[in-house]
Amino acid sequence: HFSTTPSAQREIQSVIVVGAGLMGAGIAQVAAQAQLNVTMVDLSPDQLQKGRDIIAASVRRVAKKKFPDDEGKQSEYVDRTWSFIETGTKAEAVVAGADLVVEAIVENIDTKQKLFMSLDAAAPKHTIFTSNTSSLPIAEIAKVTSEDRQARFAGLHFFNPVPAMKLVEIVKTDKVDTETYQSLVDVTNRIGKTSVACKDTPGFIVNRLLVPYMMESLRIVERGEASLEDIDVAMKLGAGFPMGPIELSDFVGLDTLKSIVEGWAREGKVEPAFVKPVKQLTDLVAKGHFGRKTGKGFYEYVGPNGARVG
Ligand code: NAI
Repeated sequence: HFSTTPSAQREIQSVIVVGAGLMGAGIAQVAAQAQLNVTMVDLSPDQLQKGRDIIAASVRRVAKKKFPDDEGKQSEYVDRTWSFIETGTKAEAVVAGADLVVEAIVENIDTKQKLFMSLDAAAPKHTIFTSNTSSLPIAEIAKVTSEDRQARFAGLHFFNPVPAMKLVEIVKTDKVDTETYQSLVDVTNRIGKTSVACKDTPGFIVNRLLVPYMMESLRIVERGEASLEDIDVAMKLGAGFPMGPIELSDFVGLDTLKSIVEGWAREGKVEPAFVKPVKQLTDLVAKGHFGRKTGKGFYEYVGPNGARVG
């Protein structure tokens, strides 16, 4: 057996996922399913328990799908996945054994920088640092770490829901080295995802295209040219999309959508037309109607799976 892996590149075997929320729990789960050693970290035992609950529900579904007629194999799969997951409340205390850190904490640059600054001091030289941020520049987050670390610092952008969505965007800063990039390609493959490469630019690939599309759909409504419902029907039946742009906005979260466009406007890096405010979006967010997660956005939703009612 001949390996094509360059000697400078180590295989990733142990992963620290910081943040046990919606995204962090999903990332920890898919890594454990691929039999990587995972430590999931959050601020408190309560937050960790929430993460464990998210994983428990999802991994059971995965096991049922994998082994539809065999309950024994299902529970074996569930148990084996859990055997790869440990938890902790101090990332600095567990990072010594990590090949890879995936950060999925709150979308706040100061909080992320503070975390990476202290992790940089505690982590081994070879440990690769990544952030799952959707809207912050990776180089901005990375700049608080040493020059050596910045060569091993990239974006690793997963999509919600992580166990179901096949894509990971690997975000390359100007400083990241090729071994690091190759390690990240390999580890995303190992966890069953397909990766694409992108420079450290607003929205990377997927959101750079989706956000202006969602915003323009809201402007069609604002200009009174078509109804919400008709826009969604049009894009589902006319373009073959599984969800229309208004439903997609509610799914993503109107607060998230608004904060992404406002971030772009502040940075001044995208065309002004993309970031012009939409009044109805501003008003809904001000009222706390964030979409599917709050039960109301452009449409209304009920029940644990957020079925649309209006
Ligand atoms: P979330 O709010 O569900 O989870 C964040 C978790 O981080 C919480 O459990 C919180 O207690 C924890 N946390 C906060 N500060 C921490 C710290 N200093 N140390 C350890 N844990 C800390 O958020 P979500 O949606 O999972 O987002 C996390 C990141 O993933 C954000 O950067 C977001 O931009 C990104 N992202 C979100 C997507 C989404 O659809 N929600 C999609 C792709 C990326």
